[in-house]
Amino acid sequence: MAGKIDRLILGIEDHLRLLDQSGAQFAARRPKKGAAPRGEFQDIVDQVLTCRLCPLARTRTRAVPGEGNPKTELLFVGEAPGHDEDVQGRPFVGRAGQLLTKIIEAMTFRREDVFITNIVKCRPPENRTPVREEIEKCGPYLTAQIEIIRPKVIVALGKVATDFFIRSSRGMTQIRGEFHDYRGIPVMPTFHPSYVLRQENVRDVKKQVWQDMQKVMKLLGRK
Ligand code: URA
Repeated sequence: MAGKIDRLILGIEDHLRLLDQSGAQFAARRPKKGAAPRGEFQDIVDQVLTCRLCPLARTRTRAVPGEGNPKTELLFVGEAPGHDEDVQGRPFVGRAGQLLTKIIEAMTFRREDVFITNIVKCRPPENRTPVREEIEKCGPYLTAQIEIIRPKVIVALGKVATDFFIRSSRGMTQIRGEFHDYRGIPVMPTFHPSYVLRQENVRDVKKQVWQDMQKVMKLLGRK
């Protein structure tokens, strides 16, 4: 099984090289669905659940590989599990998760129709931002998941997720709301639900997120 996964998982150097190469038309380079043999997705889940590649393995309660439909067109990627996710082993189940669920449903999907995961699969202590080593060690699990899911669109929730997919020095306020290319897949950066909930002008920020999601719906023919 390890060999299969080793082949599947792109190294971080490959990831960075691919980021450098991005910029061509979305449709032209989007990999075809159906290439991955069945069972490989579960192999990644199993690898994540037993992963000890970085120090977060020592402090986590449960690793959180992600959940939803691995054949979906729509992938949501957050930063890292928080307390509730660490306890339950499921992504986005706390307060931010409730907002994300509302957003997904407003987009006319159910949670189980899409796939939800994070850049880092284990909770950083005190919910701190994941450090480079953690992202480098964990990132290949996400690239492997994307290889199998081959979504039509990725929604990057917040700065950490956006930085994984897009090389840019611009902040979220500038970069959100426009599609960017990641290996032929359109990526829509938007504000992280936790950030939205922390804002005083929460209604205005929610409106901006909704504008971004309407662009995603349009691309998926849902609008
Ligand atoms: N925040 C994230 O980025 N991911 C989760 O799963 C929960 C909260």
